Amino acid sequence: MSEKKLTGEVYFPPKDVVKYANARCEKLYESASEDIEAFWASEAKNLFWHKKWSQVLDDSNKPFYKWFVGAKTNIAYNCLDVHCQTPRRNKLALIWEGEKGEFHSFSYFALHRETCKFANILKSLGVKKGDRVTLYMGRIPELVIGMLACARIGAIHSVVYGGFSVEALHERLEDSQSKVLIVADGAWQRGKIIELKNIADEALQRAATVESVLVVKRTGHQINMESGRDMWYHELMNLPIANNSDCLEVVDAEDPLFMLYTSGTTGKPKAILHTHGGYMVGTYTTLKYVFDIHEEDRYWCAADPGWITGHSYIVYGPLLNGATSFLYEGAPTYPYPHRWWQMIEKYGINILYTAPTAIRGLMRFGDAWPNRYDLSSLRLLGSVGEPINPEAWRWYYKVIGKEQCPIMDTWWQTETGMFMITPMPCTPLKPGSGTKPFPGIVADVVDEAGNSVKPNEEGYLVIKTPWPSMLRTIWNDPDRYVNQYWSKYPGMYMTGDSARKDEDGYFWIIGRVDDVIKVSGYRLGTAEIESALVSHPAVAEAAAIGLPHEVKGNAIYSYVILRSGYEKTDKLLEELRLHVGHEVGPIAKPEQVEVVDQLPKTRSGKIMRRVLKARALGQDPGNLSTLEE
Ligand code: PRX
Repeated sequence: MSEKKLTGEVYFPPKDVVKYANARCEKLYESASEDIEAFWASEAKNLFWHKKWSQVLDDSNKPFYKWFVGAKTNIAYNCLDVHCQTPRRNKLALIWEGEKGEFHSFSYFALHRETCKFANILKSLGVKKGDRVTLYMGRIPELVIGMLACARIGAIHSVVYGGFSVEALHERLEDSQSKVLIVADGAWQRGKIIELKNIADEALQRAATVESVLVVKRTGHQINMESGRDMWYHELMNLPIANNSDCLEVVDAEDPLFMLYTSGTTGKPKAILHTHGGYMVGTYTTLKYVFDIHEEDRYWCAADPGWITGHSYIVYGPLLNGATSFLYEGAPTYPYPHRWWQMIEKYGINILYTAPTAIRGLMRFGDAWPNRYDLSSLRLLGSVGEPINPEAWRWYYKVIGKEQCPIMDTWWQTETGMFMITPMPCTPLKPGSGTKPFPGIVADVVDEAGNSVKPNEEGYLVIKTPWPSMLRTIWNDPDRYVNQYWSKYPGMYMTGDSARKDEDGYFWIIGRVDDVIKVSGYRLGTAEIESALVSHPAVAEAAAIGLPHEVKGNAIYSYVILRSGYEKTDKLLEELRLHVGHEVGPIAKPEQVEVVDQLPKTRSGKIMRRVLKARALGQDPGNLSTLEE
């Protein structure tokens, strides 16, 4: 890419980054554009397959694409066993620090041993290939071990973010028909205990399929253990049965690896299904090139394993690459805003991957906090989850990266499984732009009719070719999979985002075009918040919208119509906020609940959230022709 031709605010990569990465980057784009399947196949060859594929991509039944057809493998085997057969066996796979400063590390050998032990326990409890196991914990190593143990025996893991609450957990347990729940007694957050097991007990009263509950002791506070159902993880791990012979299940490349619930346009959260083979190739390849992982690197993805970023880039991507991954339990600013910078210095972190909301949150406390620490180990930075505003980008670049670390602003989704639009270390950067599609990805911005729009015009972001780590379906709802992602323009994957492409071909994400609200990078559906509000006896109807927020990106505002007999009082409004927190989770708590007499609706009864949003922002609501009288 020629330096002079690019428009706008451009940052060129530091010279030594260019020196080692540039030649490789350009070759990748070239080879992938010549033959996409050959590109992915050549990457797949770096991984271990118990049986090789007969076909790279089967697109005979679109949009139910299959990758590495006929191949046999296991992603957990590739994450652990493969490295244990090399000198990496004694390399650190995972370093963990707890909120109270506790420290634990696992070599590849140790992580393999713990995973096998837990896999044996799950097997002994009757968990078989294809069974669903739900995990509900904070950021602790047992979550990683649990995920890998499921993968190892071919069970499908469903991780529910520890910040979700009773109804969210219940819905996910029921929809997945999970046989086993792995839960922690509690999680530390800002010095307080989130009582996960208590929340789970309440959810379990509403859900019937769970036979066994395995409890990891983390906070050690008093909990209820139901005899015959609840068992302590540490006691099970000490049983001789945990040391049974190897329990590896070699699976088909297309066998499901995990389901992960996310919010969509309408209705209940949906479980996105990913498979062993394609997901493995996608996460391995993207992490290797985009973060340019080196053998000696210490890499920190500060997301939560309960979201896709944690699945792909705390657990699977780093382990597939034989990297050392760092996991931190607590919040960035607890007890003081130095915590992250202190740990970067302490552990010599080379790559930091986080979300704009965290950057904005830390930026508020000023430069003195990071400036007190030696951050010179950092070589690369990453951002994900929502558009990063240029001001936060510049702060990250200058104050944290000291103008020496390129920022990889990675655009992707739960559904895509891997980075889709992202710079590589050699890419000239523009603050706020994810730059270009990863090699082998064909993305575009199109209008209502599906035609490419002109440079700088806004349109729908679509992906025009399949990729290995794409979602395969929505669990139990293939029709919704087709309708939601593939029906607007046949052959094109609808991302649900709007975007524009500038004159240099750089992509700029604008935001969601559906009823998804991104709060602190977390994805929430208006439907979930509204149904929580309506489940309160005082509420007849409810609507939720996202409004801009300085740190969170968006904050939730809600509007309710009260049932007769209820009066608007401050106490009731606070109760409604807390009710949403109890049902969905603290992240979903509205900033404000407003009582209204009417909600703007279309003639067919659909709430017109854009009208509410325009009103709240004092803007013109636009076309109101569909508004009912
Ligand atoms: O709107 C986009 C936004 O997050 C959505 C996907 O959310 P989720 O499935 O929870 O996955 C988040 C982590 C991969 C997208 O549709 N988004 C994600 N990354 C970016 C982004 N928006 C702008 N820039 C990004 N880098």
